[in-house]
Amino acid sequence: MPTLVIVGAQWGDEGKGRITDLLSRNAHLVVRFQGGANAGHTVVVEGEKYILHLIPSGIIHADTTCVIGNGMVLDLPTLFKEIEDLKERGLPVEKNLVISDRAHVTMPYHRLLDMPKEPRSGQRKLVTTQRGIRPTYVDKVARLGVRVGDMLCPDLMAEKIRTNLHEKGGSIESPQEADEWVDVLICEFAEWADRIRRYVANTTVLINRAIDEGKNVLFEGAQGTGLDVDFGTYPFVTSSNTTAGGACTGTGVGPSKIDRVVAVAKAYATRVGDERPFPTLMPDGLEQQVREKGNEYGATTGRPRRCGWYDAVLARHAVMVNGLHSLVVTKLDVLDDLPTVKVCRAYRCGDQTLEDFPADVELLDKCEPVYEEFPGWQTTTSNARSFEDLPEAARRYMNRLAELSGAPVSIISVGQSRNDAIMLDPSLETYAF
Ligand code: IMP
Repeated sequence: MPTLVIVGAQWGDEGKGRITDLLSRNAHLVVRFQGGANAGHTVVVEGEKYILHLIPSGIIHADTTCVIGNGMVLDLPTLFKEIEDLKERGLPVEKNLVISDRAHVTMPYHRLLDMPKEPRSGQRKLVTTQRGIRPTYVDKVARLGVRVGDMLCPDLMAEKIRTNLHEKGGSIESPQEADEWVDVLICEFAEWADRIRRYVANTTVLINRAIDEGKNVLFEGAQGTGLDVDFGTYPFVTSSNTTAGGACTGTGVGPSKIDRVVAVAKAYATRVGDERPFPTLMPDGLEQQVREKGNEYGATTGRPRRCGWYDAVLARHAVMVNGLHSLVVTKLDVLDDLPTVKVCRAYRCGDQTLEDFPADVELLDKCEPVYEEFPGWQTTTSNARSFEDLPEAARRYMNRLAELSGAPVSIISVGQSRNDAIMLDPSLETYAF
């Protein structure tokens, strides 16, 4: 079982970094295929906490090659800071990190273009992480983008900077006069090119060769299915394909070479900030309790996350659009104290019952969740290492959650540390144990 894709089943922050870390112990390559510095993957290893925005979580293993795939967008100051931090902590980043020459660069003007704007009247505000993600992907699709490989050709790079600043001049409040800024950026990028050169390669060849040689390759998604630009709650999504198909287009590996797809979901649901739609939002007091226990604050922005009940309608959608083999459920322990727990099995909209996740966010906003309610277990689950170790009420909850989601659960995580997990599918052991 050499290739495995891990994606998020909800709206991001499902604990993918932690699961990737768990499953990448025997991986030769860990590859990220979309998104950029909007992601924040938190991993705790032997009491040490790592927050990674761009570099795949596998970097924590000294013998794993980590690839930044062509589908990603790179903010260079963030990348260099991350490299330096990891080097200071003794990790051999120079040996293990490889960056696709086809990945796109988030330019300083992309960050400026991603600053919040007042919506036109009657429109809902599009909230972003303000990391320049949307403008970078806009330029990629408009074929104006700057790729990592371009940085290594000074003349081409200078030309692209000039053309782009000229094109965008009117819409950016630049820190300098446009002409001056061109010169500043050309100098800055010449220096950055020297710093990045050693990492740049044709990663498509590298990954495909590794697969052909039978190596274990793990593809690490960022964000989640609900934020996918095609299948999420458009337009309240991110600008990339966060779903499993993105692992192919974001790396240059064909679908026939993907063996296994798993998605990570929390035992409840969260969504960053005040963003809607979020059908299973909990009432205030309960939400606060879950937020504190689950430490639901953004790793990238520090913003509090809204908390809600597990949404099996979204989970079924995730199972379908990712072609999931199984779900990995995280943070079951966060629900330990609650007297009752709920799972949303359908939405009610007027006299209509919806079983399938709709494309229309206005409709979704009007939907009321239809819940199944279960008694809580009110005892700690963090020490459980097998399904039988869980209290009966927790087992009942997990069984019904899997049934309503339409996929088996392969791992349940019950705490922050590497070993706080219950492995239900031994075939994933190739990667983990
Ligand atoms: P962008 O990706 O910066 O364009 O932000 C678009 C939306 O996706 C915003 O609502 C963000 O809060 C959300 N988002 C982007 N990355 C993440 C993530 O890693 N976790 C949770 N939400 C995210």
